Amino acid sequence: MTELSDIQTDTACPSCSDPGAPATDGRRTMLSLLPMAGHTRGKRSAVTCALKCDSACAKPAPNTSDNGYFRDIAGKAISRRHALGLAGAGAVALAVGSSGLAAAASPQAGLAAGRGHGHGHGGRTNLPFKPITPVAATEDTFVVPQGYTWEPIIRWGDPILPGGVPFDVNDQSAEKQALAWGYNNDYTDVIVTNRAGTKALLCCNNEYVNADIMFPPDLDATEQLRISMAAHGFGIVELERSAPGEKWSYVPSAPKNRRITASTPFEITGPAAGSDLLKTAADPTGTVALGTIGNCAGGTTPWGTILSGEENFNGYFRASSATPENKRYGLNENASSYGWEAIEPRFDARSADYANEPNRFGYIVEIDPTDPTSTPRKHTMLGRLKHEGANVVIAKNRKVVAYTGDDERFDYLYKFVSKGRYNPNNRKKNLDLLTEGSLYVARFHGDSPATEIDGTGTLPSDGKFDGYGQWVPLVVDGRSKVAGMSVEEVLVFTRLAADKAGATKMDRCEDVEPSPKTGKVYVACTNNSQRGTTGKAGVDEANPRNSNRDGHVIEITEDDGDHTSRIFRWNIVIVAGDPSVNESTYFAGYPQDKVSPISCPDNLAFDSEGNLWISTDGQPSSIQKSDGLFKVPLEGRERGHVQQFLAVPRDAETCGPVIHDRDGSVFVAVQHPGEDGTWEAQNSLFPDYVDGTAGEGEFAGPRPSVVQVFKK
Ligand code: FEO
Ligand code: CA
Ligand code: CA
Repeated sequence: MTELSDIQTDTACPSCSDPGAPATDGRRTMLSLLPMAGHTRGKRSAVTCALKCDSACAKPAPNTSDNGYFRDIAGKAISRRHALGLAGAGAVALAVGSSGLAAAASPQAGLAAGRGHGHGHGGRTNLPFKPITPVAATEDTFVVPQGYTWEPIIRWGDPILPGGVPFDVNDQSAEKQALAWGYNNDYTDVIVTNRAGTKALLCCNNEYVNADIMFPPDLDATEQLRISMAAHGFGIVELERSAPGEKWSYVPSAPKNRRITASTPFEITGPAAGSDLLKTAADPTGTVALGTIGNCAGGTTPWGTILSGEENFNGYFRASSATPENKRYGLNENASSYGWEAIEPRFDARSADYANEPNRFGYIVEIDPTDPTSTPRKHTMLGRLKHEGANVVIAKNRKVVAYTGDDERFDYLYKFVSKGRYNPNNRKKNLDLLTEGSLYVARFHGDSPATEIDGTGTLPSDGKFDGYGQWVPLVVDGRSKVAGMSVEEVLVFTRLAADKAGATKMDRCEDVEPSPKTGKVYVACTNNSQRGTTGKAGVDEANPRNSNRDGHVIEITEDDGDHTSRIFRWNIVIVAGDPSVNESTYFAGYPQDKVSPISCPDNLAFDSEGNLWISTDGQPSSIQKSDGLFKVPLEGRERGHVQQFLAVPRDAETCGPVIHDRDGSVFVAVQHPGEDGTWEAQNSLFPDYVDGTAGEGEFAGPRPSVVQVFKK
């Protein structure tokens, strides 16, 4: 196994493969990579990088724009007046609340869409725990705190629809997979649906698959591709339990159970629907796209729908490398990571017939889990990018605001504001709230001199990485605010529009989640090992570490607590890492020797007390520990006290998470366990830990699963 140091080449990063790895050249090339699939910088393998994000980190960052707005001004101490003055002199007219920049959002500000429905009433925690000791990355164990236990609720391949059959790894077909739970869950929610608290809907997306550990080698290659398509997408399944606090079980063939796959029709909504940019030979209307792929994080809306971000969609296509638009999205002529173009021509976008097919992916999709007959939708109004996810909050004026990050090194943070207003009594109308409105991109201004942001992570003399920010308009009420680009162009080529708007290049925004308690918005910047390296953007106060291997979390306070505001304050609440080996860490001033080491913040969630829960993806080689789930209080004396709640098995990343603290339960999706194994030599037996000797059909390999953690 190759193990490079943490501060070595400028091409590798935790989400990526060996810096010298060849560009992905189809599935067979991936297979050939397996024997040398080492972890070059963290615990993520070359295989995952190739499958999950088309080895994005081993390739040049697609943002080659000379958009360096931050550095031009970061050296100046920016007062509120200065920030406003800048706006006045520039292209942006700021709508500042009458009280100016509030010191903090009012506790009442905003009604956040809750994960954890019906338990957001505060009160003492029902999830007390002593932090676990970090677990060695080689351990194939799921570890929870003392006093807790865990059980899988549903696994890859479990039958959920009528006609489904018990999972048999040696007897797979696309038809069976389409009736069963998909692979590699990421965004997860558990929505309780009855007053007794004994019925719920489990909603999860399926980001990608790992063919090399899920298919017996003698399984027909074409069938593998078809199964792979059927294992992507989204799953909804009804849960039941005997009483609150008990374990949930899924109900096979329940009425609301549903699978959405890479073939399910989606309605395209918003200003770009029907655009020439979205038309293909199979869909001359540009309004119906087949399937959703690369779905990563997401959010649950106040009207009870699920949002899911189409993230690394580029890796599913062969496409012209020649157009600046394709380049900006990482699309290229190489065979795709999955090879689906062998069975469906639309995935070969080099042809004129399907040149626009990739333009129909990269959106926030909305799924109504309460209606299994509903057509899921792709919302162009929230822009096209590598959406990590989207989280909705209702502003004071009842407009709906969605925050969404573009998870690519040096890409941007966005905000959508609806045209219409949320009406708790009109769900039908709420279902259209994401189809019309305004789209903004974030520009961060630091308040410390640039000379004090030296790239080491050392705090500037004012003691904080902090400052002001602007939401720069891209589209406002149906009109483009980007010179030379139509509304359709802005929404389909959003990255290029944001380049022109002078957005701040970020260290990979993953989940962006408003606190239901305070209205403050938290941005997980997972890492960016290329920050400050040759030819790349240097540090700024919002992205203050060179070769940022461990990531950070930004806290945003909208002006006057108004989520529709065009100006905000921000500070970095966590500069992640292991304090015992990394001096650049910061935990909101909490003593560094009293926190759990944490790296690569990814998905975020809140409990009913307003504590932030962070799941991680890619603990680095300096830590060599399994990924996990961490709780961190945000207010009071405990602010910044990071405490590890659980650890996931070998090679896995922690997804979900869902915190039902009033109920004493935590849910996580365990994604890509044993990713670095092979069919013949599996790395993980999670979650059932059977060794294949007990019975026919028993699978001695990993099954990505949704897990419930609850008190013993
Ligand atoms: Fe799928 Fe950005 O993690
Ligand atoms: Ca500062
Ligand atoms: Ca993620």
